[in-house]
Amino acid sequence: MAVATEAEPRPAPPARRRGSAPYGWLKPGILLGAFVPVASMVQRAASGGLGANPIAEVENELGLAALIFLVAATACTPFRRLFGWTWPVRIRRELGLIAFFYALTHFLTYLVLDQFFDWGAIAADILKRPFITVGFTALVLLTPLAITSTNSWVKRLGFKRWQRLHWLLYPAVALAAVHFIWRVKADIRQPLTYALILAALLAVRLVLYLRKRYAAGETLS
Ligand code: HEM
Repeated sequence: MAVATEAEPRPAPPARRRGSAPYGWLKPGILLGAFVPVASMVQRAASGGLGANPIAEVENELGLAALIFLVAATACTPFRRLFGWTWPVRIRRELGLIAFFYALTHFLTYLVLDQFFDWGAIAADILKRPFITVGFTALVLLTPLAITSTNSWVKRLGFKRWQRLHWLLYPAVALAAVHFIWRVKADIRQPLTYALILAALLAVRLVLYLRKRYAAGETLS
């Protein structure tokens, strides 16, 4: 049996990075926040505040909620890299799953309440109406990300492959922004605002990626 003759110096506690304070409330908070759009819709439906076309209103609200949570999920890594905040990355998975939940319910509203399961009309829409084509493609790209969001999938795929697969978030989010721009016919200020925020986030991500590649190339050569 090994006996310690001298007290080992205690390892220094890990330095706490900015923004990594104990944020135990974050996940419950974000899950609570996820229900705000649903609660607001239920309240508006109960008070007759959904307007003349409640189905289109609900469809639009769900689509907008999906986009907002997608933007939030996309912002997590740039925030960590730019400002050293670690807390957004802790809730990235939840934000992504909430975004997927809203995108799926948005699609189901379209499928059930808007098109009444008219598969022919739905297929024609997906093939012939460009804004539906890109919206549908965004949803298809998000589906494997939602399925593989668990730790067991990270293990099964291996971190590198899992990470590469999750780059699909970026084309998905870009298509979602295009979907919104193409859907709006007159005043495109709101969709354009989302598109600009997303373009800035994607540009940050791209610059950081290229810098990392360049630095890796420098050390190799
Ligand atoms: C990631 C996936 C998606 C996102 C983020 C998204 C987002 C949006 C947004 C933001 C709007 C406009 C909201 C507004 O005007 O306030 C919208 C409208 C719409 N979306 Fe999507 N969408 C997605 C996928 C889909 C899919 C898969 C379909 C159908 C195949 C679809 C069909 C529609 C339709 C029909 C409208 C117009 C509803 C109406 O005004 O009656 N979307 N979507």
